[in-house]
Amino acid sequence: MSRRILVTAALPYANGHIHLGHLVEYIQTDIWVRFQKLRGNTCRYFCADDTHGTAIMIRARQENRSEEELIAEMKEAHLADFTGFQIEFDNYGSTNSPENLEACKIIWKALRAAGLVSEKDVTQLFDPEAGTFLADRFVKGTCPKCGAVDQYGDNCEKCGATYSPGELIDPVSTLTGAKPEERTASHLFVNIEKLHDFLEEWTQSGEHLQKEVANYLKGHFLGEPLRDWDISRPAPYFGFEIPDAPGHYWYVWFDAPIGYIGSTWQWCKENNEGLSKYWQSSDTEIHHFIGKDITYFHTLFWPAMLKVAGFNLPTKVHIHGFLNVDGGKMSKSRGTFIMARTYLNHLDPACLRYYFA
Ligand code: 2FM
Ligand code: ZN
Repeated sequence: MSRRILVTAALPYANGHIHLGHLVEYIQTDIWVRFQKLRGNTCRYFCADDTHGTAIMIRARQENRSEEELIAEMKEAHLADFTGFQIEFDNYGSTNSPENLEACKIIWKALRAAGLVSEKDVTQLFDPEAGTFLADRFVKGTCPKCGAVDQYGDNCEKCGATYSPGELIDPVSTLTGAKPEERTASHLFVNIEKLHDFLEEWTQSGEHLQKEVANYLKGHFLGEPLRDWDISRPAPYFGFEIPDAPGHYWYVWFDAPIGYIGSTWQWCKENNEGLSKYWQSSDTEIHHFIGKDITYFHTLFWPAMLKVAGFNLPTKVHIHGFLNVDGGKMSKSRGTFIMARTYLNHLDPACLRYYFA
């Protein structure tokens, strides 16, 4: 019998161009989708640009233009790169779309109705030069657990530890290079500990995740109470203002995975199909393809949100590692950091597709 399969690849940030590391995921997913289509299954491949957050806001400011103009230009560039590599999405949307806002409102209402949202003060790093609070990824410093230098504000690539940016040793803002200061503001939180039993069952069932991933989640998160998830950011922030909490904006990692639904919804509208056929039907399989660095968003927060809002849970989250070049991480200084566009200017995309396959 023919299967109905919805496939997603992680939404690339709108603040950077596509490089060969990204392409591992979009190409392998494209190959998987083409295979399903050839098998006669109904398979739709959805993606979108991940547009919100501090980095886009700062860059737009520096370039003296609106965030909307900047993200429109980046979307065009991303699509040109993907098309160059023969990656065929059924829809390529944007997290800054009306459909995504609607989807966010539905999920938010469900979280509120389930009594999972609370408000607390948070002390965060603030970039005094940029005049903004700093997203975790825009702070770098030394890992407080293992001492590795040049690690991001939320997790260490060397030892796998997760922490808050305030715990980093010698932090630096990657936006301006300034030394961040601590400031306090009110944030909204989701109490995902209330879904601990569900997440334990869903992650450890052996059905949805690779065994190594299930073990990682058990070892790093599920062995103790899950920490409340900080879901909002104060102004100034480029994102959606939370309808029932003026002055608070949904954190980029709230509306990013919801972008999978937003992109589907856009496609549904253009193709006269109902969203519920894809996201609220036991006849549809949902397959997410992601890199290992964003595992916990997709295997803890995301299933929790979907569960509470009554949407389909992922059938599988397929998680891959990073692309190495010459045995190491792609590096600008060693000349091994290659943009999709640079490759396309010189070489045949089919060769890279074949190599990744
Ligand atoms: O890590 C990243 O590049 C994110 N932009 C991925 C988002 S995936 C999904 F949740 F939207
Ligand atoms: Zn570390």
